[in-house]
Amino acid sequence: MTQNSLQGKTLFVSGGTRGIGKAIVYAFAKEGCDVAFTYASSADTANEIIADVEKLYGVKCKAYKLNILEPLTYKDVYKEFDEDFERLDYFISNAIISGRAVVGGFGPFMRLKPRGLDNIWTATVDAFVVGAQEAAKRMEKTGGGSIISMSSTGNLVYTPNYAGHGTNKAAVETMVRYAAAELGEKKIRVNAVSGGPIDTDALKAFPNYEEVKAEVVNRSPLSRMGEAQDLTGACLFLCSNDSSWLTGQTIVVDGGTTFQ
Ligand SMILES: NC(=O)c1ccc[n+]([C@@H]2O[C@H](COP(=O)([O-])OP(=O)(O)OC[C@H]3O[C@@H](n4cnc5c(N)ncnc54)[C@H](OP(=O)(O)O)[C@@H]3O)[C@@H](O)[C@H]2O)c1
Repeated sequence: MTQNSLQGKTLFVSGGTRGIGKAIVYAFAKEGCDVAFTYASSADTANEIIADVEKLYGVKCKAYKLNILEPLTYKDVYKEFDEDFERLDYFISNAIISGRAVVGGFGPFMRLKPRGLDNIWTATVDAFVVGAQEAAKRMEKTGGGSIISMSSTGNLVYTPNYAGHGTNKAAVETMVRYAAAELGEKKIRVNAVSGGPIDTDALKAFPNYEEVKAEVVNRSPLSRMGEAQDLTGACLFLCSNDSSWLTGQTIVVDGGTTFQ
C-alpha cells in the first residue's frame, strides 16, 4: 500500500455504525481519509463514532440518516454531504437491512415472498445504483474515484436462509461490472468486495448462528471466523493507486471457505 495515499481524500460509506461499515470508517480514518457515513436508527452510536474517530485520527467525520429502502433519498443525503465536504473520492455501498424488512426474503426457498425479496433488491441493488450515481457525479468533478459494493459469498456457496440476499448479491456484482464499463471514461473504477461469513450483528441474526459459525471455522483452512476488519484491507487497496488498473471485478475475501 502506498503510504498516505488516502490523505486529503474523502470516503462516503453507507451503514457505518456497526459491523463491516464501522470497521471501514476506522480503517480509512486511520489512513488520514475524511469520512462521511450513514446510519438508519443508531444516531447516538453515530455521534460516538464521530467523536472517537476525530479524536483518534484528527480527520473530518460526519454522519447522515439514510433509509436504503427509500434509495432516492440518497439525493438529499448527498446534498447534506455537499455542505460539509468539498470533494468525494470513494463511495462504499455497505448498508444492509435486517429484521422485519427482510421477512419473506430471508428464509428457506419455500417461504420466500415477493415483498421480502423486493425489499432486499431495493436495499441491495437500487441503493447501490442511486448511491453510486450521486457519487459518480461528484467524483467526475475531481477527476475520478473508486466505488465499491460490499457483496458476500452467499451467491457462490449454499447458505441456509440466504437465497434472497445471495441472489441480490449476484445481481449487484453484475451491476458493478456494468457501472465499471460505463464509468471508466470518467476515471471512476467500480468493484465489489465479497466476504465470507463475518461475525457481525447481521450474522448473529441468523437463527442457526452457532451452527454457521462452527461450520465456517471447520471449512476455513485458516480455522477461524471472519471479523469485520478482515474486509477493510481489500477496500483500502481498491481505493489506493495500487489498484489503478483494477475495475469491474469482485475480490473474494473468505478465509478460504468458498473452495471446500
Ligand atoms: N456479516 C456477514 O457475514 C457479511 C459477509 C459478507 C458481506 N457482508 C455484507 O457487508 C455489508 C455490511 O454487513 P454487516 O454484517 O456489517 O451488517 P450489520 O452489522 O447488520 O450493519 C448494518 C448497517 O446498515 C445500517 N442499516 C440497517 N438498516 C438500514 C436501512 N433501512 N437503511 C440504511 N441503513 C441501514 C445499520 O445502521 P443502524 O445501526 O443505524 O441500524 C448498520 O450500520 C452488507 O452489505 C452485507 O451483506 C456481510
